[in-house]
This record gives sequence, structure tokens and C-alpha cells, in this order.
Amino acid sequence: MEVKEIMSFVEENLRKLYTNREPKGLYEPISYVLSVGGKRIRPTFVLLSNQMFGGDKLEVLRPALGIEVFHNFTLVHDDIMDRADKRRGRETIHVKWNESTAILSGDAMLSEAYELMCSAKPELLPSLLALFSKTVREVYEGQQFDMDFESRTDVSPSEYMSMIRLKTAVLLAGALKVGAILAGASEKDADLIYEYGIGIGLAFQIKDDLLDVYGDTAKFGKNIGGDILCNKKTFLLTTALTTADAESKAELLKWINAENPNPAEKIKAVTGIFTRLGIDKAAEAEMKRQYDYALKSLSEISVDSPEKQTFANIAKDLLYRED
Ligand code: IPE
Ligand code: IPE
Ligand code: MG
Ligand code: MG
Ligand code: MG
Repeated sequence: MEVKEIMSFVEENLRKLYTNREPKGLYEPISYVLSVGGKRIRPTFVLLSNQMFGGDKLEVLRPALGIEVFHNFTLVHDDIMDRADKRRGRETIHVKWNESTAILSGDAMLSEAYELMCSAKPELLPSLLALFSKTVREVYEGQQFDMDFESRTDVSPSEYMSMIRLKTAVLLAGALKVGAILAGASEKDADLIYEYGIGIGLAFQIKDDLLDVYGDTAKFGKNIGGDILCNKKTFLLTTALTTADAESKAELLKWINAENPNPAEKIKAVTGIFTRLGIDKAAEAEMKRQYDYALKSLSEISVDSPEKQTFANIAKDLLYRED
């Protein structure tokens, strides 16, 4: 299947999961979050990787949906943690309903993700569940580091990279490896496609940080400047704090430590400092480095199939994405 067909295959089957389920108070928010928008990059990765290694799409469909349901669960809880009121251009669950609903619907999504994973072939299930559970735990570790970093001002760019490896890259990488394992790929190839995913995932999160500052709300679907308001230690802020001249650093610290600043003023001032320091260019350079790593890993995979080129194209598209 071409990428477009894979995406509509995912979309169609995702929609079927949550129609007419009771209690409505639990399932309506889930169907709401899963119904609109979302790039579906992770389930697409599962299916495309599986196809590259010669797997059968019907055997991998439910685990692929499981990865997307898990991803959406992390978003529902992440939006509570990040105090975000907009996602994919619509109100977040904890705003549209309330926090308890967002917590419980999220919990149900996590369980559902495991159920979907469990539909894999019995002989492959132990390795699949080991990989998935480890990935899930690592995402939580990343999320905790991300929150811990909010109250620190000495987070180095390398600590930042380790944090985003956990909160973001391992899930993209894990999705690819799930597809590989279910197609019976060799361990070496499964590890190489995982490393492609790590490179892509790191670049993907740096891009997300960039869009959070320089994106267009209508396309990005989230409020611009949310990371600045939470003092998130993004690629931009950690790089700025370690490379800025004394005056710019003092100015940044003043905004970070300000009590109840005017949100619009803080976003404008911090964005101005980033741009003046050329931090956006540094972020683009790091993304390119990770992209090169991803492509190198991809090129070492032993199979010779058209999906390799598709993965190379996806990597490039992600560098230029606007949502
Ligand atoms: C958002 O992921 C969370 C991050 C890891 C940055 P996506 O950008 O893939 O979100 P959707 O699913 O397309 O909305
Ligand atoms: C994404 O981090 C990581 C997870 C959701 C696990 P962000 O907090 O940057 O994601 P967005 O920007 O809210 O989508
Ligand atoms: Mg977050
Ligand atoms: Mg967030
Ligand atoms: Mg973000």
C-alpha cells in the first residue's frame, strides 16, 4: 500500500473502535480525541515498516491502532500536565469536560492500547509486549524529566536530548520495531529501523518545539507560546541559556522568574530573544544532524524494497511540516 492508502486504512479502522460504546461519559471523550486531525504517523510507521519486511497488514492492524490509541492517551494526560487548552484545533478534554474525565478516559485508552497489542500472533506476543511495555515506561520517564526541568534553569542541551529521546523518540522508534517484529524481520534490521525512528523522533520533537514558538495556530492546532509560558526546557530555551551573552541570558532569566507575567508580553519578549540569538537556525541544524543519522540507519537495513525510499521521503517531509 502507498502511504495515503495506509493512512486511510488506519483512519477508517480507528473510527470503528469507538462507536456506540457505554458508558458515554467514558467513551465520548475518547471518540472525540481520536476523531479529528492527528497525523497518524505512528500507526503508519507500524504498517509501513511491516510492509517493508514483508508482513501482512491484517495481522498488524490492531497493534498499529494500539500504538495510536496509546499516543492519544499520552496527549490527553499531557494536556492536563502542560495546562494546554487546545489540541488539533479544538478544546482539550479536560477543558471541554473536566480533569476527572480526562484522567479516566486516558486510563481506559491505555488499557485499550494493551488489548489491541494482545491481538498479535501468540508466538510473537512476549517480545512484542516486552517492547511495548518498555516503550510506555520510557515515555513516562521522559514526561517526568520534562516536568522536572520546568523548575530548573541549568538544563543542558544534552540533558534535553536525553529527555526527548524518552518522551517522544522511543514511541516513533517502537512503532517501527513493532512492525518489524510482526513481519519476522531479523534482530539487526529491527534495531536499524528503530534507530531510524530515534533520529526521526528527536528531529520531530525539536520541530514541535520550533512550531510551538514560530508556528501558525490554525495549522499547528495548539496555542503558540505554550512552552514559553510553562518555562519548558525546549531545544530553544536550553540552547539559548547555554549560548547567550550575559545580557540576553539575564533578560531570559528575568522572564523565567517573573511572577504572573502578562502572557502575551512574555511570549513576545522570549520569542524576540530566541530570534535575535539565531536559536531557530541552531534548532534546524540539529534537526538536520538527526535526519542524517536516521537516513544512515535506514540505508544499512538489509532489505531492498521501495518502502525504504518512502521512509526517506517521510523523514524529509517531517522536517518541513507545519502541524
Ligand atoms: C504530538 O505528536 C506530541 C509530540 C510528540 C510532539 P504529533 O505531532 O504526532 O500529534 P498528532 O497525533 O499529529 O496530533
Ligand atoms: C510531547 O511533548 C510528549 C508526549 C505527549 C508524550 P509536548 O508536550 O511537547 O507535546 P505537545 O506539544 O503538547 O503535543
Ligand atoms: Mg508535554
Ligand atoms: Mg504538551
Ligand atoms: Mg510541544
